[in-house]
Amino acid sequence: MQKEFPKDFLWGASTSAYQVEGAAAIDGKGVSQQDVINQERHEKFGFADASVASDHYHKYKEDIALFKEMGFTSYRFSIAWSRIFPNGDGEVNQEGVQFYRDLINELKANDIEPIPTLYHYDLPWPLVEKYGGWLSREVVDDFAVFAKYIINEFKDDVKYWITINEQSIIVQYWTQKCYILPEYQDNNQLRYQINHHMNLAQAIAVKYVHEVGGLAGPALGYSPIYARTCKPEDQIAALNANDLRNSYYLDVYFKGYYNVAALTYLKQNDLAPEMAADDEKLFAENLSDFFAINYYDSNCAHACPEGAERRWSGYNLTGKKGDMSGFETHPGFYQMCSNPELKTTDWDWAIDPIGLEYVYRDLYTRYKIPFMITENGLGAYDELTPDGKIHDDYRIDYLREHIKATKRAMDLGVEVIGYMPWSALDLLSTSNGYKKRYGLIYVDRTDDDEKECARIKKDSFYWYKNVIASQGTEL
Ligand code: BG6
Repeated sequence: MQKEFPKDFLWGASTSAYQVEGAAAIDGKGVSQQDVINQERHEKFGFADASVASDHYHKYKEDIALFKEMGFTSYRFSIAWSRIFPNGDGEVNQEGVQFYRDLINELKANDIEPIPTLYHYDLPWPLVEKYGGWLSREVVDDFAVFAKYIINEFKDDVKYWITINEQSIIVQYWTQKCYILPEYQDNNQLRYQINHHMNLAQAIAVKYVHEVGGLAGPALGYSPIYARTCKPEDQIAALNANDLRNSYYLDVYFKGYYNVAALTYLKQNDLAPEMAADDEKLFAENLSDFFAINYYDSNCAHACPEGAERRWSGYNLTGKKGDMSGFETHPGFYQMCSNPELKTTDWDWAIDPIGLEYVYRDLYTRYKIPFMITENGLGAYDELTPDGKIHDDYRIDYLREHIKATKRAMDLGVEVIGYMPWSALDLLSTSNGYKKRYGLIYVDRTDDDEKECARIKKDSFYWYKNVIASQGTEL
């Protein structure tokens, strides 16, 4: 039998605003770039748009009652900037503030720690129209006003703040996570420029959180990168990939400067961001306090000859194994590839619980700060059977092995304070609509038909409830 997790361990799960809330044009909310992006994806690929999503805006009390039934002691959610500042700047929409106050009060009334994310992909659309959104450094000032307002408003109820979600993934999939006007889409230096603006915004948010006595961390979309073979040139390629895809972000948040090899590579290839003289000083003065890790898979890389074609990360839109549109390739530096040793999800994400153990061990050795898992989950086709059940044993297997990996790392001294898998309930996937599901709670809707969004407990709901009740000893 597994030893108990600590008594104060935060057990819960996660969501983000535009992926669950719906009510996209209700109670004063402004349009966000995700409303626009998902409308376009609906027209192009048939995925659901974000107008109703999982209707959490209207059903949050029912959802929190289900979280309580599972035994949650934490819930990670995000705050939609366009619900608070419908224009991105200017007047505050008090109805939007009231929604999050009610949500937080309801969580606290149920002894669930609220863990808000300040930014999860949903920039107010008027800022895209005004200056191109994250492309412009002007966005940093507008974000600072929003962040300061929210942090002050909820400072008495929130201890842990997640600043910005997955900058590394935003760089890889920039047109999916940000609205990029077509005329800029061929300029790949802008991927890193956007990220630089986000680094400034995130450092300012950390500063405000520290001013009110809270703790802050960015949510890292983190996949460790293995070398495909033990050939020295593949090992160096994996190191290069780790520097550019992982340490490039970590070093800014936790050391206060850009990873040297990665930045040098970007400069040599005209991809480096423009920065002002004091920018790294701002980073260094506002270091983050904990790792918020979003872990789904591990990645693999091999050596890539000079002269190969540069490519950016591909994706699988169909949910048919092997339909990946390509792998990131940086000539002379590395090429990403699939890992022949690992099984994958239907969307070609490698399933690798040991990879999570590797992340804990590697990052704790290098940075020695605590972790919380803010996403971890299996995107899968779920079937609602005629008896009204969802037998998601594949999800249970996935989560069980990742919790075991967490415990193994903790048994070797790594500090982990919480586990919040993705996702508390089914939601609008960022890449694949409602066919690909992650929730512990099923939401009865499809891409084409919103129905009533009824909540149904999956088998994983009952399993996780028992995991929490047994303090992680019954897996
Ligand atoms: C993370 C994001 O990248 O992965 C979530 O923070 C997202 O917003 C999750 O939903 C799973 O990705 P996808 O594309 O399957 O929804």
